Amino acid sequence: MGIHVVTGSASGMGAATAETLREAGHTVIGIDLRDADVTADLGTDEGRAAAISEVLERCAGRLDGVAAVAGVGPSTPNAGTVVSINYFHPVRLLEGLRPALAASGAGRVVVIGSNSSTTVPMIDDRLVELLLVGDEEAAREHARGAQAATPAAVRAASPTISAYATTKFALARWARQTAVTPEWARQGVLLNVIAPGAVVTPLMLAGGRAEDLDTDAFPTPMPLGMFGAPEDVAFWVHQFLRPEARFTTGAILCVDGGTDAAMRPDAQPTAMTV
Ligand code: NAI
Repeated sequence: MGIHVVTGSASGMGAATAETLREAGHTVIGIDLRDADVTADLGTDEGRAAAISEVLERCAGRLDGVAAVAGVGPSTPNAGTVVSINYFHPVRLLEGLRPALAASGAGRVVVIGSNSSTTVPMIDDRLVELLLVGDEEAAREHARGAQAATPAAVRAASPTISAYATTKFALARWARQTAVTPEWARQGVLLNVIAPGAVVTPLMLAGGRAEDLDTDAFPTPMPLGMFGAPEDVAFWVHQFLRPEARFTTGAILCVDGGTDAAMRPDAQPTAMTV
């Protein structure tokens, strides 16, 4: 049985992932702001560094898997917070834990993206650039400026929707670029992305009530006529973390009830151009 890190283990999909892994007999090191094995703020460099060193101590330098699930939603008031938690938390944490994953010989990583990266038409190209070069301060500043320039009606409905979708877009790009580098691929550390759609958690509800949700009135199509439960995502995270999942890296899996396929049926496959 393996040792796995789950960030965001106190709620929603992270809690469901931690439970799924524990039920399968694994040791789980949960990281969250509260109610976790390791209490840390993954939105700061200090919190990430403290979490990395505590994890390395607990796993004695050999780690089988990481599920980077922690995140904040588009109702978060400050776009800088979205940048630091949704993009830099997984990227910096995984840079710190990669050697321990390599030491296991079959390290597995899943990062949680979002289908908003392909279904929200507000991807900020400059922010993507700043994220991919790893400049956290510049990215935070740019995201806050772009937020202030967003039309008031959009801000009122969803204050940081552009930063949210853009951080998830850049995270998926980072994962595809990183997964195939020798430091990851040739060390047996596989890195994949799960892009959930509407999954009923505190983040999705943003203070609303689950019983008021209606798939027919939802802003994006829900072809299966249902919303997701945290366990629907935890199931796939578990599959990617298994040592037998050995020939898939750099993949993005939508777990969204068909939303992305309904909105963009012809977007994939994309033909190669020369
Ligand atoms: P949730 O709100 O139930 O759980 C998120 C967890 O992350 C919480 O326990 C929270 O304390 C933790 N967290 C937040 N900021 C943190 C920080 N600075 N340091 C450490 N932990 C922190 O949310 P949910 O829905 O389970 O979200 C999980 C992931 O799924 C997030 O990355 C989210 O963006 C993503 N997602 C969620 C969707 C949904 O419909 N619920 C859709 C698409 C993506």
